[in-house]
Amino acid sequence: MKSGVSPDDRIDMKRIPAHIAIIMDGNGRWAKRHGKVRSQGHEAGAHNVREITEACRELGVRALTLFAFSTENWNRSKREVDSLFRLISRAMKKYANTINKTNVRLRHLGTLEALPEHASKDVRKCMELTKNNTTMDVCMALNYGGRGELVHAARKIAEAVQRGEIKPEDIDEEMIADHLYVPEHSEVDLLIRTSGEMRISNFMLWQISYAEIVVTPTFWPDFDRKSLYDAIVEYQARDRRFGGRS
Ligand code: IPE
Ligand code: IPE
Ligand code: MG
Repeated sequence: MKSGVSPDDRIDMKRIPAHIAIIMDGNGRWAKRHGKVRSQGHEAGAHNVREITEACRELGVRALTLFAFSTENWNRSKREVDSLFRLISRAMKKYANTINKTNVRLRHLGTLEALPEHASKDVRKCMELTKNNTTMDVCMALNYGGRGELVHAARKIAEAVQRGEIKPEDIDEEMIADHLYVPEHSEVDLLIRTSGEMRISNFMLWQISYAEIVVTPTFWPDFDRKSLYDAIVEYQARDRRFGGRS
């Protein structure tokens, strides 16, 4: 599919959401439904990331943020957590060149330090390889929590106050946005959650203030191009008022 050409008659290419964020949920239930183990669900989910990234790039989306591992996901069994990070490492190695060739830049939200070393190393390598790319940012939320991100921003700002660089009264919304993990993409236009859960699960608390939310019952491994187009069509039918009147 050529980029810039509408892949679906229903989509207005002039109003593509600039920043899409996805809570990729339902891998476990997908596995159960197919008589597989959870790690196979995660594998199918990881596989799907490539397809959806490519679809977003073709549509001209500027940033795609994907929730891959939350700070609360450490509450799962060691076995599941280990298998998730192995999968992440593998995907980073497997797709680094493709990501790079398509001029996509990998970004990260969260804390890499706490990850198993192989995983943080492979993520860093891919970020380094793609750092000058300009078509689209894929932002991986890995060991990420929205509250933790705000704590991180508050600390950075407090340090600047302590150094005497700024005064407390200088702190405004723009300054907080500038201290998020990926400051360039501090506003989400479309938030998608798969698998039907009606909650935010500590994802991008600041950035989703005025996001349009689409929840689909589809499990993440089954969320295909058509599902993405459906979500964008729904987004384009919304009346974004930002507190004003339409
Ligand atoms: C999402 O799928 C992937 C991660 C949270 C890492 P789940 O593993 O949460 O799948 P369900 O919710 O149990 O179906
Ligand atoms: C949110 O899904 C985190 C990711 C998709 C990485 P969870 O499955 O962890 O969320 P809860 O536990 O249902 O809220
Ligand atoms: Mg889940």
